[in-house]
Amino acid sequence: MPGSPGGALVWGSPWLDPWGPRARGGCGLLCFILHLAALLLYNARHYSANACLIPICSLYGAAITTVEGIGNTKSRIHPVQERIAKCHGSQCGFCTPGMVMSIYALLRNHPEPTSEQITEALAGNLCRCTGYRPIIDGCKTFCKVSRSKFNNQNCCLDVEENPSSLDKEKVICTELFTPEEFQPLDPTKELIFPPELMVMANDQQKRTLIFHGERITWISPVSLKELLELKTSFPRAPLVVGNTSVGPDMKFKGVFHPIIISPARILDLNLVNYTKNGLTIGASCSLALVKDILENAVLELPRENTKVFCALLQQLKTLGGQQIRNMASLGGNIIQRHTTSDLNPVLAAGNCTLSVVSLRGRLQIPLNEQFLTGFGNAILQPDEILVSVHIPCSETGEFVSAFRQAQRRENALPIVNAGMRVLFKSGTDTIMDFSIFYGGLASTTICVNKSCQSLIGRCWNEQMVGDACRLVLEEVSIPGFTQDGRAEYKQTLIVSFLFKFYLQVLQGLRQMYPCRYHDMPVRWMSILQDFQTRIPQSSQKYQVNPEQLPQDPVGRPIMHQASIKHATGEATYCDDIRAVDKELFLAVVTSSRPHAKIVSSCALFKMAHSKQYFHQSNFFYLLQVNCVGQIVCAVVADSDVHAKRATVKVKITYEALEPVILTIEEAIKHNSFFDPERKLEQGNVDEAFETVDHVLEGEIYIGGQEHFYMETQSVLVVPKGEDKEMDVYVSSQHPTFAQELVASVLNVPSNRVMCHVKRVGGGFGGKVTKPAILAAITAVAANKTGHAVRCILDRGDDMLITGGRHPFLGKYRVKYKLGKVRAADIKSVTESSFFPYPKIMETALLRMDNAYKIPNLRFWGHACKTNLPSNTAFRGFGFPQSALVTESWITDVAVKSERQSGSNYIFYWTNSLVHIYTDGSVLVTHGGVELGQGIHTKIMQVTSHELRIPTSYIHVCETSTVTVPNTRPTAASIGTDINGMAVKNACQTLLKRLAPIKEKNPEGTWREWVREAFHQSISLSATGFFRGYDTNMNWEKGEGHPFEYFVYGTACSEVEIDCLTGDHKNIRTDIVMDVGCSINPAVDIGQIEGAFVQGVGLYTMEELTYSPKGVLCTRGPDQYKIPAVCDIPEHFSVSLLSSSQNPRAIYSSKAIGEPALFLGCSVFFAIKDAIAAARKERGLPGNFTLNSPSTPEWIRMTCVDQFTKMVRNCFLKDPRVHFL
Ligand SMILES: Cc1cc2nc3c(=O)[nH]c(=O)nc-3n(C[C@H](O)[C@H](O)[C@H](O)COP(=O)(O)OP(=O)(O)OC[C@H]3O[C@@H](n4cnc5c(N)ncnc54)[C@H](O)[C@@H]3O)c2cc1C
Ligand code: FES
Repeated sequence: MPGSPGGALVWGSPWLDPWGPRARGGCGLLCFILHLAALLLYNARHYSANACLIPICSLYGAAITTVEGIGNTKSRIHPVQERIAKCHGSQCGFCTPGMVMSIYALLRNHPEPTSEQITEALAGNLCRCTGYRPIIDGCKTFCKVSRSKFNNQNCCLDVEENPSSLDKEKVICTELFTPEEFQPLDPTKELIFPPELMVMANDQQKRTLIFHGERITWISPVSLKELLELKTSFPRAPLVVGNTSVGPDMKFKGVFHPIIISPARILDLNLVNYTKNGLTIGASCSLALVKDILENAVLELPRENTKVFCALLQQLKTLGGQQIRNMASLGGNIIQRHTTSDLNPVLAAGNCTLSVVSLRGRLQIPLNEQFLTGFGNAILQPDEILVSVHIPCSETGEFVSAFRQAQRRENALPIVNAGMRVLFKSGTDTIMDFSIFYGGLASTTICVNKSCQSLIGRCWNEQMVGDACRLVLEEVSIPGFTQDGRAEYKQTLIVSFLFKFYLQVLQGLRQMYPCRYHDMPVRWMSILQDFQTRIPQSSQKYQVNPEQLPQDPVGRPIMHQASIKHATGEATYCDDIRAVDKELFLAVVTSSRPHAKIVSSCALFKMAHSKQYFHQSNFFYLLQVNCVGQIVCAVVADSDVHAKRATVKVKITYEALEPVILTIEEAIKHNSFFDPERKLEQGNVDEAFETVDHVLEGEIYIGGQEHFYMETQSVLVVPKGEDKEMDVYVSSQHPTFAQELVASVLNVPSNRVMCHVKRVGGGFGGKVTKPAILAAITAVAANKTGHAVRCILDRGDDMLITGGRHPFLGKYRVKYKLGKVRAADIKSVTESSFFPYPKIMETALLRMDNAYKIPNLRFWGHACKTNLPSNTAFRGFGFPQSALVTESWITDVAVKSERQSGSNYIFYWTNSLVHIYTDGSVLVTHGGVELGQGIHTKIMQVTSHELRIPTSYIHVCETSTVTVPNTRPTAASIGTDINGMAVKNACQTLLKRLAPIKEKNPEGTWREWVREAFHQSISLSATGFFRGYDTNMNWEKGEGHPFEYFVYGTACSEVEIDCLTGDHKNIRTDIVMDVGCSINPAVDIGQIEGAFVQGVGLYTMEELTYSPKGVLCTRGPDQYKIPAVCDIPEHFSVSLLSSSQNPRAIYSSKAIGEPALFLGCSVFFAIKDAIAAARKERGLPGNFTLNSPSTPEWIRMTCVDQFTKMVRNCFLKDPRVHFL
């Protein structure tokens, strides 16, 4: 598996150690399958699980299957691997094994899954490259009714392309793969559960298991009595079931438990009991099992008895991903009383009881306000254990509902959640009992008991709900409420949920007593429907030339050359490179202050395994730090766990410096800018402003974005021991820069440093400059110690240290007349942090006019200096920010505007090296790095086309400074443009040399010609070169030719918003993209979809937050939400513009990696339109600010209504406020 998810398993990383593997359980990267012999049944069950969260001791008796275990290229690949690969479901391939294993687990349990089961299985897996569509397409082929292509007829804008407008010799194709060639899934061929483990499972009740780690002891008792005795002897030892809470606490919060008790084998904690009154479920039952149990109960019992069950199911649908639900236990979720528990509010509202036992006896504790707030004796004592939870059946006249709103609809902790229950006097709508519990507001779930009590006896009507909202708002205004700065939104959610509950109950009462209640107004009906994740329907269109020779691969949807290896886990990433003898590991120590002088430092550690190479004290050359997360020193040790642990021992004394600047606004206030300010001007803006009437002024802020490449920054430096030579294996988009920096810090010529990049697990611009810094630090350590040194950043450090997309503030003044913009004056500021990146602002300005021609235009751009980690290149390079500013004022001016994007790139030189061997095989190396964008695949197509040989003869190996020197970064989408030309050049040189031989023997074969050339001493090796295009820009004069050509694209998106919660759903997106003549339509469509979904993330959900002290709070998949399967449009179509030519690039193609990212803003503007429509209904003005990302909070708070007003007026006790 990539980044060694599988490797972690194979190497047996010490999961008894809190530092464990590097992931955090929220991304599904380290997914593997756990086969367990069920405790009660003599059969095995198959679960997907996240390796990073599983303590190795808990696997005793379990069978494990990693992706390597289900198939490989040496024997046979599994149908799941084949289909995901052949459907183009992998790009960088780093997430692919996780995807494969999630679907494999599903197929083991359901060989013909439904589409809902597929989306559910993939909800916990993140992919940053593909946009999920091709992965889903591959998985859909296992459904009974598979590959239902949606037909575009249901949109008025869908008009069939006029065939007469097409080149007659070309046809439109809609298939990117051929399902007929897939091997069938044969469940009888699957691995069986090892019989010896089955026997062991049967016998395992007999003995206590104890494992001693370096610092931790794991005890797994066999009986409840023994468990209670252990808990009495070690009251502070946690009971670890799923480890989804204890694990992250130990890894990331510094919590340490020397003894851990595992109750997994205690039968009492795994029993399920069905009675007439309800269900009693063992505390150790997994949430997945609880979901199954409740679903069965809902099917079997009368509807009126299952209200609590249904409300719990509502929460379980979106709680974590499938891998989390498979492991996390019911008891674990309850006992911790976390404010984010989705179950506690419902269990408490539903009057559930807990069965608790200790050596002192058994107790029944109500799961109520006292328990949740830990009041009096209600809290569990350290020696007590939760055995089971009783969930009662509901009764007639009782209604129970659950609500939650999160940053992302699935696999995200809730911002606020709620469980609500009302019981009416028999045959009436008079409230007899009422309870409301909220999560996300305080440190634990809270109850608004006072409000509920005062509503008893009231009838269920408008007035009641109005009073209820006011009462609840008053009651929840508790100290500390505003800690996370979302107070207003949270308060709004509280009342919005209550209003939803009111309507749900009203609907229920109407169904019970149809004569007594009127039909609900249609506009309210939509409030009752939650957004569902449906499997996307998609279509892809591209043009093919039927005249083309069948053996010519250019223009065909050829599978990514490494995708089978991605799917089998055989593709090697930096961290997969086998350990070198006596290899050391490096971990970095980072600044904890945003702006400070380093006064002193000391390393207090004296650890057996640590080999520090700094002095004991005052070892810094660095005198000042400029942001939290700045690398100040590093520690090397014999394992990554030891190195990481040692970093905690480094103590640094700081002296605070002023000012601390954390935002663009603060930078403007302190006049903290980098020079020079850039300006572009055309026409006469000042004159135009004097003559035109209508003026529009406004501003928009676009937040930053984290690259969130799946493979974090990784480097391995191996000193060769002679002549100061070093091999540097680095996950980098710019190996030459890493080579130069390493050579410079070691003070050796560049010819001693050999940089190698086999593939990169996603880069998106974040691996252009940053990996070189890490490589240089690691090389210093390798040079000093004489050992190979490896450094792999964990996700949290990677996010903290490396920076991301530049935030952007655009202020505009626009003059327009009769719908035509006559003049625009735009001032923009990027947040560059403490290291300038002038090219970002320059590119932003150069592209700011986007696809519009404005006669009088002035753009100003300034980069500000802050005390945050330096931002860097990110897909689109300033364009996605500046073009959003433009689109904002354009949409403000125009009632209806057609959205188009134009992007352009500055081109650079590059070279290549092509060898032909005497057996006819061809080895190609070029300056581009394989980041998942399919560059090696396209280069193989180019080579095949040029040399006229099958792609099977061609091999593209690693990118290396040894074979291709002085390369440019693989960035700005131009990899294939320039490297393709360089390879073409080399191939043509070789063809020229072979021409006389071919002429003499036209009937000969490629191998014969090559052999003959060898015998005639003709060189079969050639370099190729492409000098790029002449581009220039004179900023003094504001003139130049900065771009060679433009890429055009247009997107139309449709969304639905929930005005009460701020949630939104992407219903449909249609994209048409001009990619010239696509070299590989599957790769290009994949790039378009992936970039679009990354753009949707940028503009609608990915939000970076910092503490007031400049510490990045969003440092992992649990806090920072990138789009998941639930976020892609339900209907998603991509068409490549037909009959498009681009004579300026290879084979008339166009650069495509970046432009479609901007099209993600079509979703942003669709949301804005939807908000405007909601505001119009309420008589509110249509001009309002919507900053990016348009998170649920922004959406909700701009959909101003009586609830937001109520919150803003802070508990206005005005009886005139009505809700309807
Ligand atoms: C990526 C991710 C996403 C998540 N998303 C959500 C979400 O959306 N909504 C949500 O509600 N939760 C979410 N969670 C939290 C998850 O539901 C809880 O962590 C889980 O239910 C805890 O169960 P566990 O078995 O893993 O607990 P463990 O980590 O094994 O143990 C947790 C604690 O509970 C105690 N404990 C466990 N069983 C007993 C018992 N029988 N008696 C006494 N004490 C006991 C242990 O002593 C320990 O202190 C998420 C977690 C992760 C990692
Ligand atoms: S292919 Fe999914 S993260 Fe790269």
